[in-house]
Amino acid sequence: MNQNDAVMWTEKYRPKTLDEIVNLKDVVESLKAFLRKPATMPHLLFAGRPGTGKTTIALCIAKQLLGVSWRSFALELNASDERGIKMVRERVKTFSRYSRGSLASIPYALVILDECDQMTSSAQTALRRIMETSSHTCRFILICNYSSKIIEPIQSRCAIFRFSTLKQEDVVKHLKYVAEMEHINLHSNAAKTIVEFSEGDLRRAINILQTSAVYEDGKMINEQTILRVVGQASPKQIQLMLNKALSGKLIDARNMLYELMTTYGFSGVDIIRQMHRELFRLQHLSQKEKAELIGVFGEYDFRLSEGANEDIQLSALLAQLTRFSESRGNSANG
Ligand SMILES: Nc1ncnc2c1ncn2[C@@H]1O[C@H](COP(=O)(O)OP(=O)(O)O)[C@@H](O)[C@H]1O
Ligand SMILES: [Mg+2]
Repeated sequence: MNQNDAVMWTEKYRPKTLDEIVNLKDVVESLKAFLRKPATMPHLLFAGRPGTGKTTIALCIAKQLLGVSWRSFALELNASDERGIKMVRERVKTFSRYSRGSLASIPYALVILDECDQMTSSAQTALRRIMETSSHTCRFILICNYSSKIIEPIQSRCAIFRFSTLKQEDVVKHLKYVAEMEHINLHSNAAKTIVEFSEGDLRRAINILQTSAVYEDGKMINEQTILRVVGQASPKQIQLMLNKALSGKLIDARNMLYELMTTYGFSGVDIIRQMHRELFRLQHLSQKEKAELIGVFGEYDFRLSEGANEDIQLSALLAQLTRFSESRGNSANG
């Protein structure tokens, strides 16, 4: 392994300027307007799901506002850290001392606080006071998953930006770009499968891609690679197996079960969990029938956790699904 292999692609391809940000056009445009006149920039609150670019954008702002010395004038901190508030207070004091000297060349110092929604409300109240007293020397960029967990007085002092999850086609495009830069063969179906599993979280998507590349070591990355890497059977296969059992075809269902266990090496618990998830997507069952089956899955999941034989239990589960279909008149044909 050479040195490059050890670099996380999420870091290697983290945008360095606002222009490289994927998606989020509105957010980027408003921020650019602030950056043209830094004095107009209020405190910022970024809210949104993981892997949508919040930290990345905060760092882009720091670099653009503070230039080469951005590291000296930007404090980046995880707010859920115990020492969080104390450190913020101390650094803010230092910043205000600088403000008569070297800080004169830059508009203000920045405090980037990640995971603010993990802070207790008393810590948030303390933070609010610091924000008030330091507003001439500091701007805060607060980052959280849920803005509703931030106390009202802080929310009202910030411009709030909501980071929507990335569009599927944007994630695919970005994955293809990374694959091209890394000279890896990525099948289109594989890219789509990564997108399905990462649910708009670009960090997760890039990590799956990198792990898959290591796994295939130069060979084509296809859908199977991704399914192995994320440790999931294809939802289609699980559905097919469920439908076979639910239409009374026990032997077919059992053969599919063996294939899943041997090709993918799934444990019994893995398979029950995935069947449980796919059950909710079956169109031909009523709510009442689903409720009944969930109870059945729960029972078998418990037996496995107690150490019962996987093969026997899963076959018994399929047999029970078959009986269930007989009792409802075998109406599921899948
Ligand atoms: N909008 C985006 N544009 C480009 N890359 C992104 C975007 N969002 C996330 N990424 C990628 O995912 C990684 C994680 O993003 P990050 O900004 O740390 O997410 P968050 O702070 O919202 O959890 C980044 O290093 C980058 O590679
Ligand atoms: Mg982050």
